[in-house]
Amino acid sequence: MNKLSEEAITSFLQIVPTAKRDELMSNHTSVKIGGPARLYVVAPSNAELLRIIGEAARLNIPFVVFGGGSNLLVADDGYEGVVIQAADRSMRIEGERVIAASGAPTGVVARAAAEAGLEGFEWGIGVPGTIGGATYGNAGCFGGEMKDVVSAVETYDPAHGSRRTFSNADCRFGYRDSRFKHDPYILLETTLLLRPGNRETALTRMTEVMEKRKASQPQGSFSAGCLFKNYEFQDGSALDILKRHGDGIPETFLTQKRIPAGWLIDRLGLKGTSIGQAQISPVHGNFFVNRGGARAQDVLALSSFVKMKVRDELGILLEDEVQLIGW
Ligand code: EPU
Repeated sequence: MNKLSEEAITSFLQIVPTAKRDELMSNHTSVKIGGPARLYVVAPSNAELLRIIGEAARLNIPFVVFGGGSNLLVADDGYEGVVIQAADRSMRIEGERVIAASGAPTGVVARAAAEAGLEGFEWGIGVPGTIGGATYGNAGCFGGEMKDVVSAVETYDPAHGSRRTFSNADCRFGYRDSRFKHDPYILLETTLLLRPGNRETALTRMTEVMEKRKASQPQGSFSAGCLFKNYEFQDGSALDILKRHGDGIPETFLTQKRIPAGWLIDRLGLKGTSIGQAQISPVHGNFFVNRGGARAQDVLALSSFVKMKVRDELGILLEDEVQLIGW
């Protein structure tokens, strides 16, 4: 990436005085990894977010927007541009609808919905990061997915300088995918449409979700969530090599046409493997943890090693789930 000129940096800092120079992204990612953002700024409102983006574009400074930093791997060399944290946390409930700005933490939105007696988003309680990030990646867990609850997404279209609202169908949600991963819209607000229900039932379900998460996923360690997507297949012949590899494949995986990456990694006995301070979690094969001072390069090397092993031994190509900045 081309180095930003001193002139561009100074001009930006004059117009956006809350911006910082050379801010380490390891301070802002859940995995505590990431080199310096040449410029870094928190946008506390969507109006401010749009102003900052406008100024960056005017000064020809590349920019990237992120939410909670929970699914991010930022390069050790950082990002030569402005990294903007979308931090508008505003939220309101209108009947069965919860309208949340992108920076609202997913867990806070889930709890507010349950407290208001709305059901259908209890699973959101343990999802790290923000609603904007969850919509962007069609986050999901324990049977729920954003695509089942989103009714509309308000965005900013930088190419036309205007706002654009997408319906659920227009979001083109897929497994851990949406059109926002492919088209450069800036997510401003997500509207969830939930079911009127019972507050106590919703809160109880939420506690169950938290318990399940505690039982199966690493707690209290620095991680970026699941590193790989689970492997989706259409045709059983894709599993020929896997089928020859010892004991059987659970029936549920075959009916769902999805093989969990964590299960594949576990099968190869790779849990606990480390490169530098990056480690495949001993608790769950699809979580990588930072044992203290890991570099992004270590995570990438470990991820390549895992992909190679899974490809060579089980005939399956794993795809990254985590988002990359600065590579
Ligand atoms: N498994 C193993 N060993 C492991 C890990 C998993 O055998 O080390 C087995 C489990 O026993 C289970 C199966 O694999 O039979 C699936 O595991 P789990 O229920 O933990 O779910 P997952 O498919 O690994 C997905 C999402 C998670 C989400 C959980 C819970 C992906 C890539 N991951 O994980 O989402 O929290 O379901 O619903 O889709 C994320 O996307 O970052 C994420 C954490």
